[in-house]
Amino acid sequence: MTGPLLAVRDLAVHYRLHGPLRRAGMLARAVNGVSFDVARGEALGLVGESGSGKSTVGRTVLRLQPATAGEVLYDGRDLFAIPRAELRALRRRMQMVFQDPGGALDPRMTGREAVAEGMIVHRHVPAAGIPERVAALLAEVGLDPGAADRLPHELSGGQRQRLGIARALATDPEFLVCDEPVSALDVSIRAQVVVLLSDLQRRRGLALLLIAHDLAVVRQVTARTAVMYAGRIVETGPTEALLAGPRHPYTQALRSAVPVPDPAPRPGRIVLAGEPPDPTAPAAGCPFRPRCLHPARDARCASDRPALRPVGPVLVACHHAT
Ligand SMILES: Nc1ncnc2c1ncn2[C@@H]1O[C@H](COP(=O)(O)OP(=O)(O)O)[C@@H](O)[C@H]1O
Ligand SMILES: [Mg+2]
Repeated sequence: MTGPLLAVRDLAVHYRLHGPLRRAGMLARAVNGVSFDVARGEALGLVGESGSGKSTVGRTVLRLQPATAGEVLYDGRDLFAIPRAELRALRRRMQMVFQDPGGALDPRMTGREAVAEGMIVHRHVPAAGIPERVAALLAEVGLDPGAADRLPHELSGGQRQRLGIARALATDPEFLVCDEPVSALDVSIRAQVVVLLSDLQRRRGLALLLIAHDLAVVRQVTARTAVMYAGRIVETGPTEALLAGPRHPYTQALRSAVPVPDPAPRPGRIVLAGEPPDPTAPAAGCPFRPRCLHPARDARCASDRPALRPVGPVLVACHHAT
């Protein structure tokens, strides 16, 4: 196969609301026509504020929940048409690392059991080889051998996330979705876990979808990044280009929050005013318009939804981006 490992085309995911809102037929339009590719061995960043639809994309491309519309091709095959009987083999190849490693780990399972589980379920490693493979994986994620005998509550947050990563790698997947893997961690240990993910991605040649709410996390791991706002990709291109010269006013706001190590002068922090978008009440025109500070914003922004178009090295969905 020469095509991308993952091809997402016009993906939409709408949730039915509960209670009286459900009776009113209201929907939360979490994802509204998202398209992107992830090549084998490639790391793609997916960034945006809370509620922009990132986790929904991540779960849907792993077939952990259904799509409302659009298509997900995995290794050239329609992911949602793959027969149940073949799903187990597929599950071995794609795994998820969660934001909250505490919540994702069984509190009664030792580190050894947590990592061995996937190997056993998928019969990925012969029983006799499991202890050795578990030990190797714990070492690979930077845990000392003692972690094998500990319960999750006996580990630090960073150690728990390392264990979550080891668990995801237990079946030697080729594709990993990491959903805000460092958001729940102490600021002081985030960088270590980001470096670990970056090393693993390169060493194992993993295709990676790295979800984060800021550009600082993805900058060290991904060559390409897509920025989501209100369930749409508003800008996508080389991560360096998004950092060096973001074109969309929303990416500019995200960029302004990234600390810069170099002394280059740059504009100050852009603080977004106004409310985050309401996914149950989609507006006409540009979804970012109510919060946009672009000097050229005009009536067209209220009436026409901007499509992604090439501007320099990126694609950007803004009528006025140059
Ligand atoms: N199971 C659900 N039922 C209804 N609405 C949901 C559900 N999951 C997510 N949403 C809504 O979809 C939108 C996108 O959520 P999510 O994908 O979790 O975004 P993110 O990961 O970027 O924070 C949010 O408005 C959220 O409230
Ligand atoms: Mg999320």
